[in-house]
Amino acid sequence: MKSGVTQLYPLPSADRELEGTYLAHDLREYANDSTPYIYANFVTSLDGRIAIPRPDGSGLMVPKNIANERDWRLYQELATQADLIISSGRYLRDWAQGRAQEILQTDNPKFADLRAWRSARGLKPHPDIAIISSSLDFTIPDVLTQDGRKAIFFTTANPDPKRVREIESKAGQVIVAGENSVEGILFAQRAFELGYRVIYSGAGPKILHLLLADGVLDRLYLTFANRVLGGKPFATIMDGALLEPTADFKLDTLYFDAAGVDGLGQLFASYDRL
Ligand SMILES: NC(=O)c1ccc[n+]([C@@H]2O[C@H](COP(=O)([O-])OP(=O)(O)OC[C@H]3O[C@@H](n4cnc5c(N)ncnc54)[C@H](OP(=O)(O)O)[C@@H]3O)[C@@H](O)[C@H]2O)c1
Repeated sequence: MKSGVTQLYPLPSADRELEGTYLAHDLREYANDSTPYIYANFVTSLDGRIAIPRPDGSGLMVPKNIANERDWRLYQELATQADLIISSGRYLRDWAQGRAQEILQTDNPKFADLRAWRSARGLKPHPDIAIISSSLDFTIPDVLTQDGRKAIFFTTANPDPKRVREIESKAGQVIVAGENSVEGILFAQRAFELGYRVIYSGAGPKILHLLLADGVLDRLYLTFANRVLGGKPFATIMDGALLEPTADFKLDTLYFDAAGVDGLGQLFASYDRL
């Protein structure tokens, strides 16, 4: 029998299946007529590491000893509910080197129920993808625009027109959403104008900063794996200037997953921005 999770908050506590835990959050219910509903997710060690150096020293990766199947299942449940998934130039560069995988794996038979979940709601198998990048320095994999999926590239002022033409002829629209840095508010407005209502960020700490600095992130999902990693350098959930005012959150849900991370356990938490 598959082991479940224990809901610790809101009280009273209750046991439930792991599968369906985040589908039950029903994020599409938050779609509204004025702003997109934006949520992000990270798995972190207890000492706040979301990424550590690759064994060959070239860049950072999610630590293998905190990534785990049970967290991945819930990650997939979050991505399933989106119209648009945010990723970055770094993701496409990793993809080109064979170091990245599909964000939402509805083509994987293991997640056939999630494909069916989308289909039952009239959604295509894959949400569209937003690539946030100043450099526009990446190659675009064919998979990004297959199965009716669109790619939209959010970038900074005065992009090289030749590069914009190249990208648009291959993959989709390039949209300027900031002067020196893509701004969360402009990103959210442009995405809303394009019809996106429910947006998932599977991207990293700089992108979380742009979403929080402009107050456009609605919910933050964090998985705390019961492990301390240490080491330098590392990435944590956010990278950028001090937030003034701070971004304040209220606990939405908390689940304990005793079976996760090789039986060490992990906490699945979600927070709503105040
Ligand atoms: N543990 C987890 O749950 C988790 C989740 C996400 C990521 N990670 C890991 O964390 C590490 C860092 O992730 P990441 O590099 O994707 O994160 P990131 O620092 O958020 O994004 C990196 C790229 O996004 C673009 N970007 C970010 N902010 C921008 C802005 N304001 N304006 C314009 N472009 C902007 C830049 O692309 P250009 O360079 O093309 O301009 C930049 O290189 C990776 O190893 C990743 O695997 C872990």
